[in-house]
Amino acid sequence: MTPEDFRKACGFWASGVSIVTTRDVDGKPYGLTMNAVTSLSLDPPMFVICVDNKSDTLEPIKRSGLFCINVLQQDQQALSNAFAKKNPDKFAEVSFDWGKSGAPLLTGRLMGIECSVSATHPGGDHHIFVGTVSEITRPSGDDAPPMLYYRGKYANLAG
Ligand SMILES: Cc1cc2nc3c(=O)[nH]c(=O)nc-3n(C[C@H](O)[C@H](O)[C@H](O)COP(=O)(O)O)c2cc1C
Repeated sequence: MTPEDFRKACGFWASGVSIVTTRDVDGKPYGLTMNAVTSLSLDPPMFVICVDNKSDTLEPIKRSGLFCINVLQQDQQALSNAFAKKNPDKFAEVSFDWGKSGAPLLTGRLMGIECSVSATHPGGDHHIFVGTVSEITRPSGDDAPPMLYYRGKYANLAG
């Protein structure tokens, strides 16, 4: 199996898309587009995120011990693309509020899941963060269409 075969195989796992945000200890917001995000535990409520060791958002999450999973809606592709590129000032043109946890909550999100880091593990070329959920906000209601990702492309729910 080549790295390209493995990357292609990973693409057959259909997922949602989120922008995981944090606030560094100096107050600066950071974030990146992510789909390596999953629920972990119901009681206590926990999520897991897997962040590339080369991500500029990694150290800010480690330092602050907090993050927010901003689950994206179908119409937020431009935002998703913007947060999937390196840029020292990603938040300059972005509308957001500070959540109770201290992490940025992006305007137009389907859902915001605010977490405090309860464990960190090495995982190959990524870090695995286990987060305990403190707040969930769903400002767009239950029926807002989600952004999906499948085989390297954005997709929509059929039907
Ligand atoms: C749909 C999609 C999903 C992604 N999922 C992840 C992920 O789960 N973890 C990760 O570290 N990078 C992921 N990336 C790549 C990062 O968004 C990209 O490397 C980004 O430039 C990192 O930004 P930063 O260095 O400013 O943190 C994904 C990109 C896309 C388009």
